[in-house]
Amino acid sequence: MNPLSLQHNHLHLESADLVAIASTYSTPCYVYSHAALTQAFQDFDKALRGRNHLICYAMKANPNLAILNLFARLGAGFDIVSGGELQRVLAAGGDPGKVVFSGVGKTVEEIRLALDNGILCFNVESEAELLRLNEIAGTMNRIAPISLRVNPDVDANTHPYISTGLKGNKFGVAHEDALRLYRLAASLPHLKIKGIDCHIGSQLTETHPFADALDRVLTLVDALEADGIVLEHLDLGGGLGIRYQDETPPLIADYIDTLLAKLQGRTHTILLEPGRALVGNAGLLLTRVEYLKHGAEKNFAIVDAAMNDLMRPALYDAYHDIVPVVPRDDPKDIYEIVGPVCESGDFLGHARLLGLQQDDLLAILSAGAYGMSMSSNYNSRARAAEVMVNGRESFLIRERESTTDLFSLEHTLP
Ligand code: LLP
Repeated sequence: MNPLSLQHNHLHLESADLVAIASTYSTPCYVYSHAALTQAFQDFDKALRGRNHLICYAMKANPNLAILNLFARLGAGFDIVSGGELQRVLAAGGDPGKVVFSGVGKTVEEIRLALDNGILCFNVESEAELLRLNEIAGTMNRIAPISLRVNPDVDANTHPYISTGLKGNKFGVAHEDALRLYRLAASLPHLKIKGIDCHIGSQLTETHPFADALDRVLTLVDALEADGIVLEHLDLGGGLGIRYQDETPPLIADYIDTLLAKLQGRTHTILLEPGRALVGNAGLLLTRVEYLKHGAEKNFAIVDAAMNDLMRPALYDAYHDIVPVVPRDDPKDIYEIVGPVCESGDFLGHARLLGLQQDDLLAILSAGAYGMSMSSNYNSRARAAEVMVNGRESFLIRERESTTDLFSLEHTLP
């Protein structure tokens, strides 16, 4: 669903006027749509109806407690990659029994925390991790539930920084090592094999890499079963892309149908780890024009959000649509939309045709995923506020940081 509409020449998210949101909460400010978040989750859930399944929200995309709590209430589990993320799940009222723990560098403390809280499964990414997990579980008198993250060596055709399923990536265990490592896991006394896991990358806009990866995983599942190793679940990872500009990613239902078609006759519980597809298009970053500057070669709109608030353009050259909150009839110019940070890489959009005046509000769209979660305090900039709208109502779900928050952990020398 698209929660955005123009009403009385003001951009609205659901029925909330973004001019009013900016005056209540100030800018820069992330704003999320409750309805769009709910709808995206339900699209996954409905498409999987009739199968045992668990949608484990990849919370790195946006770990705000209100968002976690909303998904938990809808029945979600969570894909975590750190002890900090597990603590957030607990603080948000999520069920640790529905948590899968991915990541190549789980520390001893993180493993202990996860075992103490009885998570559903560790997605193990190396032989060394398997051994460490067995040892720690032994000292705690626990059995660690595991699956191996296999690297299917499939090209996800996405940005190299967010492609994870190729042989050269640091993620998972090689397909050809998987059988040996499963046998090793089966021989270790403090591990219980629960499933198999695979995640090939992010912002995938085609279905076939998912299908190819699943074929590779199923070959292994069959080999394991022939070996007497029976799996309860298949975790097919996340990675479904969204539309930022003119991409045409598959619909959630079509993507899932493609997977389910390959799973006929199999009774495994299906786990998915979507992040971006659940939150990306449910959020925007609201910002105000501080200055217009007509340079020798380019026009600049200097806004109050910057690369520290949304680093995707600087880091991946990612495109985010930028639209006026109150469209004007004035003549348009081509603008570089930039922030106040002292780097030439601090841009939010290049060459955008907009009719602008100082103090205008802009909405940077598709910013719900990997926006706030990748933000920083670079240039001693306090992080933005976060707001959730539901119909006409709005709720502050993260306060704007204060400048003193930024150095509250620092000490001058005695
Ligand atoms: N599962 C695992 C093991 C992952 O590493 C990821 C994302 C996901 C699931 C969720 O993927 P999604 O459904 O969101 O595509 N910062 C980048 C994206 C990094 C993705 C990292 N892993 C960006 O802004 O595009």
